[in-house]
Amino acid sequence: MDYNQLLIEARKHIGPNCKACPVCNGLACGNTMPGPGSKAPGNGAYDNWKAWQNIRLTMDCIAPAGEVDTGLEFLGRQLDFPLITGPIGSIKWQYNPESDVRDFNRDVASAAAKLGIAGAFGDGIEPGVYTDSLRHSADFGGVSMPILNPYSDEEIKEKIALANEAGVFALGVVIDSAGLPHLRQKGISAGTKTVEQLRTLRECSKVPFVIKGVMSAKTALKAVEAGADAIIVSNHGGRVLPFSPATAEVLPEIADAVKGQTKIIVDGGIRTGIDIFKALALGADAVMICRPILVSWYGAGEQGIELLVNKLRAELDDVMYMCGARKLSDINRDMIRF
Ligand SMILES: Cc1cc2nc3c(=O)[nH]c(=O)nc-3n(C[C@H](O)[C@H](O)[C@H](O)COP(=O)(O)O)c2cc1C
Repeated sequence: MDYNQLLIEARKHIGPNCKACPVCNGLACGNTMPGPGSKAPGNGAYDNWKAWQNIRLTMDCIAPAGEVDTGLEFLGRQLDFPLITGPIGSIKWQYNPESDVRDFNRDVASAAAKLGIAGAFGDGIEPGVYTDSLRHSADFGGVSMPILNPYSDEEIKEKIALANEAGVFALGVVIDSAGLPHLRQKGISAGTKTVEQLRTLRECSKVPFVIKGVMSAKTALKAVEAGADAIIVSNHGGRVLPFSPATAEVLPEIADAVKGQTKIIVDGGIRTGIDIFKALALGADAVMICRPILVSWYGAGEQGIELLVNKLRAELDDVMYMCGARKLSDINRDMIRF
């Protein structure tokens, strides 16, 4: 099976909201985008994707002809490839009512262990999602990290305690879910957190602590003050604030402010190994990809995830080679231009 066949299969199973497009960029689905939907005016997901397309690559073929190595040490884990799958809390309402996010999280953990990447999962709102997904991570050597919604501190602390006893390599809080329309519609209380609150949560965790939803140097510095071992530069795929800049736009200023003090992950519209290269050149240590991983799973389950990740890997390999980078730490801003 190739990627186009995988998309044909995905269209049969994914439900009416997602068209499983050749490039997942929010153009065909706009405000109906599963996830569920970009916040008005509905262009946030597209803006994220478009910003990566505006960056060009600088070729440099006067370089030693060695093998490319995409391996890295990340939050205490050895990865073969700088990719973490995006956390997903639920898929029933957004995609196919017959599907269960726990099956997805299990297959992600299994594929991630095989492929040398890391996984992530959301705590969702359906009972059992969190505890089952913790178990799946443990079953595959602690390959995943839970990303918790900003519910009450008490609820987060209970979930951190469960994660501490399970096998996860890190855990985090997604602070931007404070703006998620579907949580508000369901009357679920999720809100912003102060530096002090986040620091207290960080102290409860026995594994590296991650803050997801950072979109400025100002917020990144507060995350560092709170003790974040990693931040995720993310606007939740354009779903939490209209007129948010694209993540590629803010990544350089965030990297300038906090690179070296905390690990930097970025998500939002990253669709190819070329986009991954651009993200690393702008200062990210690793990237997160969400929707295409899910689409690939709908196409062919765990094998679909493997097919996509191997495609990304081949693309990153090729670009690194052509731009003169033989290892990830060789990648720098001189290798791209706007
Ligand atoms: C169906 C769906 C569910 C999601 N659930 C969560 C979640 O529970 N927690 C979270 O931090 N992000 C969640 N996200 C956001 C993604 O992790 C990611 O930040 C966003 O989709 C941007 O990445 P992408 O452009 O690669 O999809 C969800 C996204 C989708 C599509």
